[in-house]
This record gives sequence, structure tokens and C-alpha cells, in this order.
Amino acid sequence: MAKILLLNGPNLNLLGSRETDHYGTDSLSSITESLVMKATKAGHSLIHLQSNAEHTLLEWIQAAPKEGTSFIIINPGAFTHTSIALRDAMIAVNIPFIEVHLSNIAAREIFRQKSYFSDIARGVISGFGSFSYHVAMYAAIEELSRLEI
Ligand code: DQA
Repeated sequence: MAKILLLNGPNLNLLGSRETDHYGTDSLSSITESLVMKATKAGHSLIHLQSNAEHTLLEWIQAAPKEGTSFIIINPGAFTHTSIALRDAMIAVNIPFIEVHLSNIAAREIFRQKSYFSDIARGVISGFGSFSYHVAMYAAIEELSRLEI
């Protein structure tokens, strides 16, 4: 049984009402509820944390090894395109992770097309709305079995 950490960055607490053309109408709590069920069914546990603050996300990432986290699924929100600090933290803890986005960031504004996470992630899932999280969870479960965790 592995501990999976799902981290969501700024403004993702507003899912469901925020720019629904880009992000759909599912709330973060409805998404996480079904992800917890998926993780549990596969014999893993899922901890979900969301923050609008970069320093809080940094602290959670830094704490992940001590918490026994084996895998991280992260949607860094706008920090995707700005945060070298979060990138450095992900490298420092050296926990395999998947980068997730609801929208297809490669097809949006130029400033969204740069990610500080993609080249250090196991993989990137982007553009399937809330289903991106489900695809990431399937991939995480598969990766964990490959890693024999
Ligand atoms: C996002 C894409 C980011 O560019 C944006 O700032 C977000 C959400 C996504 O899930 O599509 O907050 O990460």
C-alpha cells in the first residue's frame, strides 16, 4: 500500500465556478472524493491538499518524504509557469510525480506554455478537464505497481 499525495495550487479551490470554459463545472471536492475512492480500491491511500500560498505548498512537498509519500500528483496552477522554488523542492524530495492540468496549457497563451515541472515529471496530463486527474490517478497506480510499491 502506497501513500499518494495530491497537491493543488492557487485558485484550484474555485473549481466548479471558475472560468468553466477552461476548467469545467466539477468542484475540487467532487474530484478528490472520486480519486480517494479510486486510490482506496487499488489498495493505496490518497492525501489531498490545496493551497493558494507558494510557501505552504513548499512545506507540504518538503514534508512528503517524512510522511512516507511514495508518489505525488500535482497541479501547480499558475505556479506551473513561475515557480523555480516549487521545482527545486520537487527535485529535492526526489519523489516520482505526475503534472496535471485541466486545460491544455500547450494550446493556451504563450506564458502558459512554459512549465517548470514537465521535464522533471514522470509524465504530464493536460487538457481533459477534471478527467485529467483520473488519468493521472490511473497512471500513478500503474507506476506504483511498476516500482513495486
Ligand atoms: C491550470 C493551468 C494554469 O495555467 C492555470 O494558471 C491554472 C490551472 C490547469 O489545470 O489547466 O490555475 O493548471
